Amino acid sequence: SLPCSIRSFSEAAGVPVGKVLGTLMQMGVADININSQLDLESAELIATAMDLTIELKETETLENSLIMELENREDSEDSLIPRAPIVTFLGHVDHGKTSLLDYLIGINVVSGEAGGITQHIRAYEVEKDGRSVTFVDTPGHEAFTEMRARGANVTDIAVLVVAADDGIMPQTEEAISHAKAAEVPIVVALNKIDLEGVDSNRVLTQLTEHQLTPSEWGGDVEVVRTSATKGIGMDELLETLLTIAELNEYKANPDREAIGVCLESEQQGDRGVVAKLVVQNGTLRVGDIVVCGSTYGRIRAMTNTLTGSSMMEAGPSTPVNVMGFDQAPGAGERFHVLDDISKAREIAETREDASSQEMLSGVTTKVSFENFQEM
Ligand code: GTP
Ligand code: MG
Repeated sequence: SLPCSIRSFSEAAGVPVGKVLGTLMQMGVADININSQLDLESAELIATAMDLTIELKETETLENSLIMELENREDSEDSLIPRAPIVTFLGHVDHGKTSLLDYLIGINVVSGEAGGITQHIRAYEVEKDGRSVTFVDTPGHEAFTEMRARGANVTDIAVLVVAADDGIMPQTEEAISHAKAAEVPIVVALNKIDLEGVDSNRVLTQLTEHQLTPSEWGGDVEVVRTSATKGIGMDELLETLLTIAELNEYKANPDREAIGVCLESEQQGDRGVVAKLVVQNGTLRVGDIVVCGSTYGRIRAMTNTLTGSSMMEAGPSTPVNVMGFDQAPGAGERFHVLDDISKAREIAETREDASSQEMLSGVTTKVSFENFQEM
């Protein structure tokens, strides 16, 4: 079964482990040991290089069959309906991400935050002029990095918040690279424009230097001057976001098993595990069996992330607080709905085993096809 370690490969092929390692090193693969994992392609390459005639195949796991099928399932054009854009606020600490979101939604979270620093990912779906938008506020960029590392990008549009007095700062640069890597449209909120003596041209120049040329300078990045405290530019920011959403026609199929991402989760006393999920496609319902990373469960209850009121179902682009997982799933883990609790348990346990085995053996290297191509 693959992936397998170099040790098990040599046992199965009946060749000394030193010879396998030697061949790999000759092929230019560095930093390997007998516990390094081989995937199918690299195992085939070694077999060819060593003149071995062995049959290599990947074991049919539920992970491979069920989850891949759910991930890759194509929705027919006529099953798709418009969904709300998912808009994420990114930027340097204290530049006003939470304040902007508070203003747009009409709540006040920022004054209640310990030290004024966002500690949790917040996600709310709100209706504006009859159109829905899902807003995500991030506690700095770390959560975003983690999501990206797990390939679980949920963002459709990134709002890069830059305080006019500070301009582009280190975390702004990181946010820019995250948004670019995610290949999503970027809207700049040039915030704190109300402050005395701010020079917005200086920030526009900095943006241009970072390949974000403002549309007013002939580029394609919308820069909206905002003040979250004075309420300046808020309608324009919202309008800009809705226009981009209209151009992109985000769509999803509400009539399928839900798939999406866990934003964060925690153990909450007698409520048990509460996981904040965003549905990306399909509809999630109370009673559904869900697997997320190495946790699983049957959804006992769901609540609206803004009002706390209970929900029976959540369609595409909807953030929800979900109760019913056995343990807290990690930020950025993808979730899938299955029809059978024993399958969910099996997948969760297989993943748990795989990650604890990796930790025990200290395996960090995965020998993969890319290693060979770098030669
Ligand atoms: P982190 O969550 O810590 O990364 O910060 P944040 O980007 O969410 O910033 P936050 O909204 O907490 O705002 C930081 C401080 O800037 C607060 O004291 C806000 O009141 C202030 N602030 C936010 N927007 C504006 C603005 O437009 N003008 C002025 N003058 N102050 C603002
Ligand atoms: Mg904040």
